[in-house]
Amino acid sequence: MSNYHIKHLEEYFKVYRKSIREPENFWEEIAEEHFVWRKKWDKVLDWDFSKPAVKWFEGAKLNITENCIDRHLTTKGDKTAILFEPNDPKEAAEHITYKQLHERVNQFANVLKDQGVKKGDRVCIYVPMIPELAIATLACARIGAIHSVVFAGFSSKALATRINDSDCKIVITSDGSYRGKKSIDLKGIVDEALENCDCVESVLVVKRINSEIYMKEGRDKWLQPLLDTASKECKAEIMDAEDPLFILYTSGSTGKPKGMVHTTAGYMVYTAYTFKNAFQYRDNQVYWCTADIGWITGHSYIVYGPLANGATTVLFEGVPSYPDFGRFWEIVEKHKVNQFYTAPTAIRALAKHGAELIDKYDLSSLKVLGSVGEPINEEAWHWYNDNVGKGKSPIIDTWWQTETGGMMITPIPYVTPTKPTYATLPFIGIQPAIMDEKGAELKGNQVEGRLCIKYPWPSMARTIWGNHQRYKETYFSAFDNMYFTGDGALRDEVGYYRITGRVDDVIIVSGHNLGTAPIEDAINEHPAIAESAIVGFPHDIKGSALYGYITLKDAGEYRDHNNLKKEINQLITDRIGPIAKLDKIQFSDGLPKTRSGKIMRRILRKIASNDMSNLGDTSTLLNPEVVQSIIDNRL
Ligand code: WT7
Repeated sequence: MSNYHIKHLEEYFKVYRKSIREPENFWEEIAEEHFVWRKKWDKVLDWDFSKPAVKWFEGAKLNITENCIDRHLTTKGDKTAILFEPNDPKEAAEHITYKQLHERVNQFANVLKDQGVKKGDRVCIYVPMIPELAIATLACARIGAIHSVVFAGFSSKALATRINDSDCKIVITSDGSYRGKKSIDLKGIVDEALENCDCVESVLVVKRINSEIYMKEGRDKWLQPLLDTASKECKAEIMDAEDPLFILYTSGSTGKPKGMVHTTAGYMVYTAYTFKNAFQYRDNQVYWCTADIGWITGHSYIVYGPLANGATTVLFEGVPSYPDFGRFWEIVEKHKVNQFYTAPTAIRALAKHGAELIDKYDLSSLKVLGSVGEPINEEAWHWYNDNVGKGKSPIIDTWWQTETGGMMITPIPYVTPTKPTYATLPFIGIQPAIMDEKGAELKGNQVEGRLCIKYPWPSMARTIWGNHQRYKETYFSAFDNMYFTGDGALRDEVGYYRITGRVDDVIIVSGHNLGTAPIEDAINEHPAIAESAIVGFPHDIKGSALYGYITLKDAGEYRDHNNLKKEINQLITDRIGPIAKLDKIQFSDGLPKTRSGKIMRRILRKIASNDMSNLGDTSTLLNPEVVQSIIDNRL
């Protein structure tokens, strides 16, 4: 088990150095020892960032589902692979063993084959967080079909764009979904989307909410009767290392969504290896990631990474607020969750409702707390650490992207000393670089600039579906021979990294480069404030000035907004300096957010600049209604 499970800091440095000095030997050893291959590779790595072209384990043959399921059957057949916790706490949880998962994936794969799905075909999966979502995903991988999971909260328009872009011939969906008290007519959304999708030949429908739905003759079929007659054996399609495994769309700040293409072998090796180490996962532990499988976090760290390690992975259908804001903690207690992985936006929402709900539950099983999705602000970090972790479970602030496939900069718990708001050290095999605007690398510590990666890692996306040129322009053109992340970062005096936000969020005020994250951090320290977003707007003298959108925890208590504004600017002056004071402060009931919880600053920036003409695509917003109220109340 050499180098597979890092246990102390010295070992981290040793293994890290090896992974940088001899990357090919390093990854070859990991790949050899911890996975099953139908044929080994001819070459570990072939790369050229100028094209860009990256190939890992070329010549190897494998099927990822044999690694995630079949190989565990002899030793872990009766272990729970997927632990399904339904939306309604009164509905029983379902334990799906590796043996059962094997049968269900095979049956589903056989149904897909019967529907004419072949290796390389694209399958759109628009299913809520129920076991069939994971099973459908794995069934595609079983037969070599390329899955394109679309988050089942997206609108029909967003769904149609994604189906058409990758030319999916089949859509898997459900009659509906539960979200807290609500149920959602998913099939209706699919029907609407398909009015504009000629490529789709058939729709398979999972029954979840037993609603009366329209079934289009010849196109729509209920899944269950097909599964009932399908064989429980399905030979895995033997794939090449670089065959596409899936497409996952990520919404760029402008333009249409990018279908990131991830391939098979490198993705498997890297997600499995990062899962094992970043969560310090041991057999018989229970791991829970609260993300949706519709995001990369769910692909890599609900499905593939955990299953490749034979882990038990919790799949939660519901929302953090139902039946109340104690639901997460109830689940942690009920299933004795050991590793818990969530997003700062969820942490802030929970913090807003106080810590009292936590005290009702026994959280002593928790060993590792994860965070992902955006910079975790200092206040949320401490709240998470003190109340959830009781100061004894390390927080891993994991920085990565849809494009990177797996975690890139993260502490290894119990190994890397943590530091609030810092993602700390690069993961094994990752070579970050901080660049200045002119394209020079800023060497040494105590530097700040644009975050790039100098060398390929196994799970990087290989292209954008149907648009390699855009892939090259977006990620490989800003800096020579480097992958550009789009994020800003600083490296502190000991070499720890802090992500300062997207570089397009950097605002230049009177010649000073100001990152939005530290300013928002300062503001969020105020006890009355729930969330804030800072954007720039044109200013005659300063070039740009700062506009802050702020939501309060309890508007009633702070009626005197003028005083509050003074307090906010005082906090900023104390923490950053008077240069970062806000010119305008607007209080609002909410901030426009993407469904993965990111604040859509693009929209706020337009409103602050009084340019309401083209707010761009708002179809992926969680709460489109707040946009109008922000416009109506703009300063
Ligand atoms: C962007 C990628 C990776 C899965 C979820 C998001 C931001 C992500 C962190 C973090 C600071 C973070 C970055 C990145 N981000 N994690 N721990 N600290 N920023 O995937 O939707 O592709 O977004 O999210 O800006 O570039 P994504």
